[in-house]
Amino acid sequence: MRKKVIAGNWKMNNDLNESISLIKSIKENLVDRDNVKVIIAPPFTSLDRASQLISDANISLSAQNMCYEDSGAFTGAISASMLKSVGCEYVILGHSERRTLFGENNGDVNKKMKKAISSELTPIFCIGETLEERESGEMKNVIEKQVREGLDGISEAELSGAILAYEPVWAIGTGKVATPDQAQEVHAFIRNLLKELYSENLANNTVIQYGGSVKPENAAELIGQPDIDGALVGGACLKAESFVGIIKNA
Ligand code: 13P
Repeated sequence: MRKKVIAGNWKMNNDLNESISLIKSIKENLVDRDNVKVIIAPPFTSLDRASQLISDANISLSAQNMCYEDSGAFTGAISASMLKSVGCEYVILGHSERRTLFGENNGDVNKKMKKAISSELTPIFCIGETLEERESGEMKNVIEKQVREGLDGISEAELSGAILAYEPVWAIGTGKVATPDQAQEVHAFIRNLLKELYSENLANNTVIQYGGSVKPENAAELIGQPDIDGALVGGACLKAESFVGIIKNA
């Protein structure tokens, strides 16, 4: 049985002091649930302290992005080994904000995926269509291209354990959540694609999270769908009460 994974993507929110308070508050309110894994992804500047603060809790640490190079003249970039050195186990890759605001394409995401995997960081690989792509009937083509190109050259053994996150761009930060049926349809499509590209075994064992306006009120119904294995949460992870509320309802 696949675990449910609830991850909080803090995006560009919370300086160090704010990060410390939020983590303390999450820890105070957190309830351990057997089949639910909890991950937080604070900004780079808070990762080191976050790692210390969560060391006695059932919370794992993720970064929000990383560079595909190992080291050198890449001003402003952060490497996989740097992330590992501050306690990250996960890294979010290909988030739609990276793709649309910072120009990352499927090829860049593929290089990052390979570097994360070879560095033993677990990728949270994000895919999703825009409203325009959905309305023009291109949704499945776009998602298939993101999956095929993002995973190009990655073997089944390498991909095993990675997390996928379906985040329809039109649902991110808009309050317009995909209906459980809409999300389930795409999750089943992605799982089927994994089966085609790899195997039934990999498809059945891969966690596919949903992201986009997830809140405590809609989490249960979304995560209750057969192919939705948790949530990648933005806005609602910035308050301990709503983040823990989602974990409780997962
Ligand atoms: P919101 O939950 O704010 O819609 O953001 C989702 C997201 O982008 C998580 O990565």
